[in-house]
Amino acid sequence: MGDGGRSLDRASLPHPDDAAGAVAGAPTRPRPVPAVTRPRPLTAAGLLVAAALVVATVLLAGMAAVGTGRAGNPGGAGAARSAPAYTPSAAGTLRGLAPAGMLIGTAVDPRGLNLDPAYPGVLAAEFNAVTAENAMKWGNLEPSPGVYAWAGGDQIVDLARRNGQAVYGHTLVWHNDVPDWVSPDWPAQRLREVLRRHVTAVVAHYRGRVWAWDVVNEVLAEDGSLRDTLWLRKLGPGYVADAFRWARQADPDARLFVNEYGTEGRTAKADALLDLVRRLRADGVPVDGVGFQGHLDAERPPEGVRGNLRRFAALGVRVAVTELDVRVRLPATAEGLRRQAAVYREVLRACLDVAACASVTVWGFTDARSWIPGYHRGFGAACLFDADFRPKPAHAALLDELAARRRTGG
Ligand code: XIL
Repeated sequence: MGDGGRSLDRASLPHPDDAAGAVAGAPTRPRPVPAVTRPRPLTAAGLLVAAALVVATVLLAGMAAVGTGRAGNPGGAGAARSAPAYTPSAAGTLRGLAPAGMLIGTAVDPRGLNLDPAYPGVLAAEFNAVTAENAMKWGNLEPSPGVYAWAGGDQIVDLARRNGQAVYGHTLVWHNDVPDWVSPDWPAQRLREVLRRHVTAVVAHYRGRVWAWDVVNEVLAEDGSLRDTLWLRKLGPGYVADAFRWARQADPDARLFVNEYGTEGRTAKADALLDLVRRLRADGVPVDGVGFQGHLDAERPPEGVRGNLRRFAALGVRVAVTELDVRVRLPATAEGLRRQAAVYREVLRACLDVAACASVTVWGFTDARSWIPGYHRGFGAACLFDADFRPKPAHAALLDELAARRRTGG
């Protein structure tokens, strides 16, 4: 049920770098044909074009940075900034070292893409998957009823295709970013119809281009009950199952995820999520995967992540770390960044140890564009690269972990 008989092993996932089997450093053992075929495997010619584009982007970004000079880091997330040229680490890149079938993704922020010279180069070189940080949220996609603004999401999807990256869709049903024109005063039937149209329109628009969707996001309250939202109040608990069924209908090949935070370790909320997913699947609802956001504090990392991922995988679903960042108290100290690196490494390890773990996606890769300082007062520096696009100890730790796994074949 739900998975249509597909293997849940990582090796059956779409993996742009591996699809052509010719990327430097890619494992040479034969891989099974990806059961999920999107994004379409690159042909050898396509791969050459993608590789050339990556190189050109890195070079152009470097030239632009040289042309404008270093501007330091004023920290204003809206401002254009220049940055030193990005050169991949001698140790390799995240996507280059990732094992067969594993996606290493990042959230993408169009401000970074369009304003930061170094951003596109790092994005293309380090990651083989992307998630739109905000561009595919309902409020951005449908500013007025029936009027769709696809440009932001499409830009990310088109770029991902050129970069040979898989696209993870975020997010269809959430209590945030519901457009203003959706009124809580409407009768249930009208709200349900509007939600159905939204899910159907978005999934259909990206059909064949998005390999997985966060169908519902953050549906649980801290105590594990269903969160008190407009959808629960007006439509009742069945809205969750409905959303999955609508999404399945609009794109039968997309993997459908429930996405949650505070469930990375073995918390009471994680117990409730496990229960929810088990019940949904027992009812025949097409839930294919569980996303663990992973917005973490370096001082208070979750415990038992590996075991937690395993117990979800045992339900027959894929699991994924969907929004990883590890915040530290500001100003960041060397010790803080060391702890942060250890937490990043631990989460990656947990995913690597669980065959059903499809991907680790970071919620932005540069401190220049991270949402953390705006939402967690006094915290920041949560990403793998600093605000000047220099790799931090956390990046080195991930490279090291991936390289060690290659050596040992683990
Ligand atoms: C955040 C974005 O990063 C911010 O830019 C935006 O202002 C608010 O949303 N959980 C989620 C994400 O599922 O969509 C959120 O993203 C972070 C928390």
